[in-house]
Amino acid sequence: SNALGTRHIGRQVIYFAQTDSTNLRAHELGKSGAPEGTVVLADSQTAGKGRLGRRWSSPAGVNLYASVLVRPPVAPRHASQLTFLSAAAVARTVAETASLPVSVKWPNDVLVAGRKIAGLLNELDAETERIHYLVLGIGVNLNMTADQFPEDLRYPATSMLLATGRSVSRIDFTRCLLRHLDVLYELYLTQGFVPVLEAWMSYFDLIGRAVEVDYHDRRVVGTVAGLDDDGALLLVLGDGSRERVLAGDVRPLK
Ligand code: BTN
Repeated sequence: SNALGTRHIGRQVIYFAQTDSTNLRAHELGKSGAPEGTVVLADSQTAGKGRLGRRWSSPAGVNLYASVLVRPPVAPRHASQLTFLSAAAVARTVAETASLPVSVKWPNDVLVAGRKIAGLLNELDAETERIHYLVLGIGVNLNMTADQFPEDLRYPATSMLLATGRSVSRIDFTRCLLRHLDVLYELYLTQGFVPVLEAWMSYFDLIGRAVEVDYHDRRVVGTVAGLDDDGALLLVLGDGSRERVLAGDVRPLK
C-alpha cells in the first residue's frame, strides 16, 4: 500500500499543470508498460475528450480531470463493466462529500438532482483475447461556475459548487475518489462484476420506470426491468416481450 492507503489505484500519480487530454497521456503510459493503477491528473486540458467525439470543457483550477490505467484480467467484451465501476466510485465520492441527491444515468454519467456533474470516457486497448490496458477517464465538475460551462451544452449540467453553494477541496475530493475506485476495483478483481453492479444500482433510479430509448435509429418504449451481467439495460415492452439494450440514450417518460 502507498500514501493513499490504496492497493491498486494511485500507486503512481502523474500531475500536469496543463495537457491536451489526460486520456492521451494515460494511453502513452499504458503502451510503455506503466504499472496498473497509474493515475494521470491535470489542472487543465486543452483538448479534453468527451464521448461521441465531443469535447469536454476543461478550464484550469476548478475541476477534476483524471485518467486511471488498469489492466484487469478479463476478456475485452467485459471492458464496459469498468464504466459502472468508475460511475459508482464517483457517485460514492459525491455522496460522501456533500448530502446531495446523487444518481447514475445508464450507462455512464453521474447526476446531481438530474443534472450532469461528471462524465466518464473509458478507452480500451486490446487484442481479441486479452485487454492490454484500459483507461478510465473521469471528469467531475467541482468548483465550476455557471458562466464557465460551454454555451452549446446539450444537457443540463451542474458542479459541486453550484449544487451546494460551497466550494470543495480538489485534493480531498481526488483522494476520496481514488480510494473508492480502489475499493471497488479490489472487489471487482476478487468477486467479479456483481458487487460492482450492486454498488452502481444503489444510485440508479429508473428501475420500474417507463422510458424511451433511442438506439440503432429506432425508438423503443418500455419499462426498465434491470441490468444483466454485462451491464445491458433490460426493458419490458408493451407487448410483454423483453429487449436488451447495449447502448443508447435513455429518457424517463412522465
Ligand atoms: C462525456 O462525454 O461525458 C465524457 C467526458 C470525460 C471527460 C474526462 S476529463 C479526464 C479525461 N480526459 C479526457 O480527455 N476526457 C476524460
